[in-house]
Amino acid sequence: KILVLDFGSQYNQLITRRIREFGVFSELKSHKLTANEIKEINPKGIIFSGGPNSVYADDAFKVDPAIWDLGLPILGICYGMQLMANELPGGEVLGAADQEYGITDIDVKLKTSPLFTNTPVNQVVLMSHGDKVTQLPNGFEAVAVSKNTPFAAIQNLDKNFFGIQFHPEVRHSEYGNDILKNFVFNIAKATANWSMDDFIIDSIAKIKETVGDRKVLLGLSGGVDSSVVGVLLQKAIGDQLTCIFVDHGLLRKDEAEQVMASLGTGFGLNIIKVDAQKRFLDKLAGVTDPETKRKIIGKEFIEVFNDEAFKLKDVDFLAQGTLYTDVIESGTDTAQTIKSHHNVGGLPAEMTFKLIEPMNTLFKDEVRAIGEKLGIPHNLVWRQPFPGPGLGIRILGDITEDKLHIVRETDAILRAEIANHGLEEDIWQYFTVLTGVRSVGVMGDGRTYDYTLAIRAVTSIDGMTASFAKIPWEVLEDISIRIVNEVDHINRVVYDITSKPPATIEWE
Ligand code: XMP
Repeated sequence: KILVLDFGSQYNQLITRRIREFGVFSELKSHKLTANEIKEINPKGIIFSGGPNSVYADDAFKVDPAIWDLGLPILGICYGMQLMANELPGGEVLGAADQEYGITDIDVKLKTSPLFTNTPVNQVVLMSHGDKVTQLPNGFEAVAVSKNTPFAAIQNLDKNFFGIQFHPEVRHSEYGNDILKNFVFNIAKATANWSMDDFIIDSIAKIKETVGDRKVLLGLSGGVDSSVVGVLLQKAIGDQLTCIFVDHGLLRKDEAEQVMASLGTGFGLNIIKVDAQKRFLDKLAGVTDPETKRKIIGKEFIEVFNDEAFKLKDVDFLAQGTLYTDVIESGTDTAQTIKSHHNVGGLPAEMTFKLIEPMNTLFKDEVRAIGEKLGIPHNLVWRQPFPGPGLGIRILGDITEDKLHIVRETDAILRAEIANHGLEEDIWQYFTVLTGVRSVGVMGDGRTYDYTLAIRAVTSIDGMTASFAKIPWEVLEDISIRIVNEVDHINRVVYDITSKPPATIEWE
């Protein structure tokens, strides 16, 4: 097993998943772990993740100094490498005048370095750092250089310590996967003996142990994440499970009926549908701030679950299809909040339930792989993601019935046209956003002053990064004409051509 210590980078769980893809179990743990706790975990090697802070700041995240004496191979990435340089004798890290953000070239000068085996001398990597190592710690040597730093990669072969200033875990680093593989297999000497089947077996065992003979409620949305959790729980605890499908009034056209049919009738899950439109929309009336909306929705979900649990009696656990993306974007002890996902950052501080979230270390594509293994039908496994707060975060500003009608109808047209043109499987997620901007138009012979609708469509693998989808102009034209003709109060349609980063996928 390979242990990854968390220093707060948005990408840190990507490191663990790359390693799991190699067939080696890997998990992300707090940087506060002591050397003794690490000994108990007994990893073959340790990776220090990147992070947004400076290693020389007063409140910088550090490691237990006894870690350096465990005799284990260590790979420091970005912040992790700077930590190594700052903590070990002789090293120095300073703020850099010429910061490096984005794609850059490195040259591997020390071709014998085991970290770079089977990778070319010149390679493209993703750098993202403000500080840099200015002095190597004793016993270290420079392995690779970039335009802005003579220490793009460093090593101390006696101790088996390695540092790289770039991020090998993101796809922009051309040979990042090979570099991680070299660390895992050549340096840490791990063996590939782990698979997704092990994940399923372990999760079922863990759920059984945690739940015992008690009852669990599952918040089921009809999407792949909560459906996979539903099937896992059904296998683990059978009829101790009750699923709650909340119709909060922010669903897509005909969604409630479709979910009840496919998961209830189709899967034999025991589902209670709760009609909660009024209570959600009342609470949201007049609210414009995106984070406030998300928190209200997150809290109201829990209130609904509480009410249902009270009726069922003796429910101790709430299961959710939370993914790692939801966790990291909602903010953790080490990572900044980007947005509060309803099922994590949107949860109220006081909760009577204990949470069961078997997927909270995984990414969407890993959950899809599990869904396929569990025999969930292809169209459900590959359904486009739909956020828990639903259309509520696709209406910028306050939510009203009229605006909901507009996003619901335009979303239905967009989906129908994407399907008509056979693009459903090519695009990861596609939806409409009511921007709240009004502009002047001319329809017939008259002037209009009405809303601008945005179309958002992206390709992605895991939702952490995304590119806007290059939908053919003709298709966009068909969509635009239908929307303006068929839905009142839209006189202009625009296409969102930003990727993530710097934008996020949803607009709020
Ligand atoms: P962003 O907008 O952060 O979204 O780029 C990444 C993915 O997460 C979905 N999303 C959510 N899913 N609850 C969810 O279950 C939420 O509160 C939430 N917010 C965003 C989004 O649709 C995209 O697939």
